[in-house]
Amino acid sequence: MRVVIIGTGYVGSVTGAGLASAGHDVICTDVNKEKIDAWNGDTPPIIEPGLFELVKKHRGKNLIFTTELTNALNEAEFVFVCVNTPQKENGINKGSFDMRYVDSSARTIAQHVCDGVIIVEKSTVPLRTAEHLTRVLRANMNDKKFAVVSNPEFLAEGTAVEDFLHPDRVLIGTKNEDEWARVKMAELYSWVPKDKLIFPNLWSSELAKLANNLSLVMRLTTINSLTELCEETGADITEVSKVVGMDKRLSQYFLRAGVGFGGSCFRKDVSALIYLMGHYFGADNPYGKLFSAALSLNDHLRTRFVQSIGYYLHSFGSKTIVLLGLSFKPETDDVRDAPAVTIAKYLLEDGARLRIVDPVATKHAKTLFQEYLSQIELFDKPDNVFEGAHAIVVVTEWKQFQDIDFNSAAPKMQKPAWVFDGRNMLDPKKITTAGLNYYGIGRGVFYADLSSPNAK
Ligand code: NAD
Ligand code: UGA
Repeated sequence: MRVVIIGTGYVGSVTGAGLASAGHDVICTDVNKEKIDAWNGDTPPIIEPGLFELVKKHRGKNLIFTTELTNALNEAEFVFVCVNTPQKENGINKGSFDMRYVDSSARTIAQHVCDGVIIVEKSTVPLRTAEHLTRVLRANMNDKKFAVVSNPEFLAEGTAVEDFLHPDRVLIGTKNEDEWARVKMAELYSWVPKDKLIFPNLWSSELAKLANNLSLVMRLTTINSLTELCEETGADITEVSKVVGMDKRLSQYFLRAGVGFGGSCFRKDVSALIYLMGHYFGADNPYGKLFSAALSLNDHLRTRFVQSIGYYLHSFGSKTIVLLGLSFKPETDDVRDAPAVTIAKYLLEDGARLRIVDPVATKHAKTLFQEYLSQIELFDKPDNVFEGAHAIVVVTEWKQFQDIDFNSAAPKMQKPAWVFDGRNMLDPKKITTAGLNYYGIGRGVFYADLSSPNAK
């Protein structure tokens, strides 16, 4: 089947490569020429495990990357809208999604597609977006037949290819009268087991995407809301989380407490729901208040982590800190709303010198920390970074950081030396035996074993 993808970011590129690997003919387009050149070159514009291998396997055969959208549209049976829908920062619908890229895509599609095309909402959008798209298309497509289908994406960065190829479920939300589009969409996803193809109504499908992210956010908020209490009382959040996760009704996943969630989607999708609740039920509605509390709590986790570091270091000025991780989570180079960025800025503002270690994301550091270039050094591995440092701060749980030899790092550091673990990924016992003090969020402090030769 012939598919056009609009937008080759994290979602568009994975969708394009995934559909090509299922045997479809895919043309991926983007307005960003540099991105398209990168997809056609040797270095991909984004890092996602397994993605570039898949792209290279199909590129030039049944997968094409181009900035030329209009020709591609003429032949398309499906057009996937995968453009960004960032949070609207100001103006009339402040807090909701900024829909300008979806809207302009719809207007271009309307000018160039042929009869019988299916327009697929893949981007995360506000409720009833399909209605707006239908109006724009209807007004510009004369009597051509088309359907707008909601097919939201649930992939997570870092596991995107695997998530797309082996999804928990695929939503195909349509209007009742668009049975023909339902059938064609099911054929497009023919590799997905039948019981995982779900056919809700359009509006349920659009809302289900937001509901899914809200549920994940609420779950994280529950466990993160107990971290400070744990530290105050001597409970250990990793033990609490393990117990909760053993309840079959709740499961062990998405219960890792720490410095809070980041990424391009959780904050903006929950903000859009807050906006939506305000729109339907007034500014003072209890739903929006509940969701806003989750976002405030998440901000609080970042500030409090820096306050905790400050409490034990006493001051940041002229201190050297090794910051482990910059991306918002491991296995991605994405730094959008990354806790590490906020935390680094707090530390830099207070005069700390940072050695930032991240396997793939330090390429963003010069733009992110423009005002503080003289205070930062960048590394892609945690080698030769501990000499003279006062503290190690873990913000992203890259598995490489598990292998750090703290016995050899400790003697190089200034005493008393600290490890602040924002992800509870390290074993406190190993750290304290190596002669370092350890602080974990919701775990509290484990002091260095002073009998260790490294502790002095
Ligand atoms: P992204 O910013 O990585 O990519 C979007 C791409 O669209 C960019 O390359 C941009 O240049 C391109 N674009 C914008 N306007 C265009 C136009 N008119 N024509 C052609 N290309 C255009 O965004 P993303 O992370 O891939 O997210 C895309 C959508 O998918 C968002 O709505 C997001 O909420 C949703 N989503 C993202 C994820 C994720 O993990 N990143 C997961 C599920 C859903
Ligand atoms: C998330 C959802 O998991 C996807 O299903 C969804 O499609 C996507 O948002 C989206 O709509 O864009 P993503 O943001 O890529 O995916 O990454 P997650 O794995 O969900 O992690 C989000 C944040 O939560 C990260 O900062 C991560 O460190 C944090 N997290 C996750 C925790 O703090 N603890 C956990 O137990 C799990």
